[in-house]
Amino acid sequence: MSESDPQNGTDSSLMFDPALHDRALAGWGIRRRRGDLAQEEKNSEENILLNSPEDSTLKGASTAGCAPPEGNPPVDVLENLDLDSMARLVASCERCGLCQHRQNTVFGTGNPSARLMFVGDSPGEEEDLQGLPFVGRSGQLLDRILSQGLKLTRDSVYIANVLKCRPPESRDPLPEEVLSCGSYLDAQIERVNPEMIVALGKPAAQFLTGEATSLKRLRERKHVYKGVPVVVTHHPAFLLQQPQAKAECWQDLQVVIETLGLK
Ligand code: URA
Repeated sequence: MSESDPQNGTDSSLMFDPALHDRALAGWGIRRRRGDLAQEEKNSEENILLNSPEDSTLKGASTAGCAPPEGNPPVDVLENLDLDSMARLVASCERCGLCQHRQNTVFGTGNPSARLMFVGDSPGEEEDLQGLPFVGRSGQLLDRILSQGLKLTRDSVYIANVLKCRPPESRDPLPEEVLSCGSYLDAQIERVNPEMIVALGKPAAQFLTGEATSLKRLRERKHVYKGVPVVVTHHPAFLLQQPQAKAECWQDLQVVIETLGLK
């Protein structure tokens, strides 16, 4: 994320799939099988035909279906890959322009069978250099949240981002970048199959909830991504800028502690 992101505004929409909004079931713990979603996915494929590329502006962009551009691996290729193979595919990805400036792709790290998954927006400078998510200052704070707050190690959870390449100047992801890259995160979530996901900051929260609204509003409610409960909280970079918001983050994480029995 851009470190100056105020987090609570209602600006850019990073809508991944409006149908996800409908899938955010009232209440958690309802795990729907992929097959149950077949018709909804078919519908969203039909939607994408109705959306011209010109519609893909920062505000209110519809990224229904998240289809990759021509000439790139089709989304269903990912269905047959394990995480390691997927990471190798991502390492040579050229779905969007971010590939031109990266040092490394940043696929994800941690326990491939983790009960808990954290999702940020995109790699920063240090992550780009090391090829690992959350290893810069934000990552150090995330490590403290894990160890001191949740009594978990980094290796016991799975950590990934919406984008696998660093945006220039670490700006927020653009809708077209999310469109190109989002299917990787979707496949990662399916493979890890966590019991709960923590969305760190607005871009990740908007992607996972399919709602183009403020982080404040998204934090207030329960969400579900394809059957997996999603907790929305502040991005660690925001917490570094606004340490007083750590109390809210701690409040958000209580439901993780309770649901996963981490007490
Ligand atoms: N911010 C993110 O969203 N992800 C990282 O990996 C690092 C910083």
